[in-house]
Amino acid sequence: MRWLGRANGLANKQLPELWLKAAPRDHKAEVGKHINAVKAHCEAMFEQERLPIARLETAVRSKLIEPLERVDITLPGVRRAIGAEHPVMKTWREIVSVFQKLGYSVAEGPVVETDYYNFEALNFPPNHPARDTQDTLFIAGQQSKPQRERLLLRTHTSPVQIRTMEKMRPPIRIVIPGTVHRNDPPDASHSPMFHQIEGLAVDTNITFGDLKGTLDHAMKALFGSSVKTHFRPSFFPFTEPSAELYVTCFICGGSGKRGSDPCRPCKQTGWIEVLGCGMVDPNVFEFVKDNGYDPKKVSGFAFGMGVDRLALLKYGVDDIQLFFQGDVRFLQQFG
Ligand code: PHE
Repeated sequence: MRWLGRANGLANKQLPELWLKAAPRDHKAEVGKHINAVKAHCEAMFEQERLPIARLETAVRSKLIEPLERVDITLPGVRRAIGAEHPVMKTWREIVSVFQKLGYSVAEGPVVETDYYNFEALNFPPNHPARDTQDTLFIAGQQSKPQRERLLLRTHTSPVQIRTMEKMRPPIRIVIPGTVHRNDPPDASHSPMFHQIEGLAVDTNITFGDLKGTLDHAMKALFGSSVKTHFRPSFFPFTEPSAELYVTCFICGGSGKRGSDPCRPCKQTGWIEVLGCGMVDPNVFEFVKDNGYDPKKVSGFAFGMGVDRLALLKYGVDDIQLFFQGDVRFLQQFG
């Protein structure tokens, strides 16, 4: 029965099930032939009413197992490409790590955000013209909801400033990496989807000097110690005063020229804008005042940078679309 049983016998059932089915396609005929031989052998033995199990096992081994063991298992296997880290993610990780070394922790928030967090609590009141600079996609069918609850694709990582201050009392130091969307037609420097890294530090007596020192250090850590930084006044509803940070162009070293040609990335100015920043506006603290952010007691700075833009500059790529087209010929260059 052990060999010839119909339901589970070795020769009738298990060998065909376990060996024949599992055999590689071009070995099936060969394996089948051997199994039939074993079966015939069993039947012959059975006929003779002798079942020397040891002999049968020897037969199975020599007819089935040994021929297959001749496959050379020392041959190399199929190689799979490991792939390479995407230049945007690599830049993302580098920026986050510069701030982690300064004691910052990482916070994240939702990509689908409410009007309240994306605009209102950041001091963009309904109908404020500054909203026009960050047009985005709104989720359909929400007219019956109050405006502050309506959902949209976040236009920046700044809403996570509010979300984090609601959860953590001061002092805080956080960086917030994430995906954002804007209603920008795609071209060499715009994409409707891109990535930002936000920073927020709140404590007692934080000054604009702290902001400058921190960002100057971060730019040198990212782009090399010879880079110079330069702050120009700007406007954001949620910071006051606000500034744009420029660094010396690392393509032309600040000269505005490449040999006798004009330097394109910095438009011959020698400076490249890399981020927006400023001191947290007291109106923003008012929205989280009850969690310890009394604007009379604490102060802070915030900044937000475009990861893709920094990756373009870092790797000398001249079209942001290349990052999102998934063309292996482009990505292979970073392997
Ligand atoms: N959120 C701003 C933007 O997307 C950048 C910014 C962040 C500016 C924090 C100041 C402070 O343009």
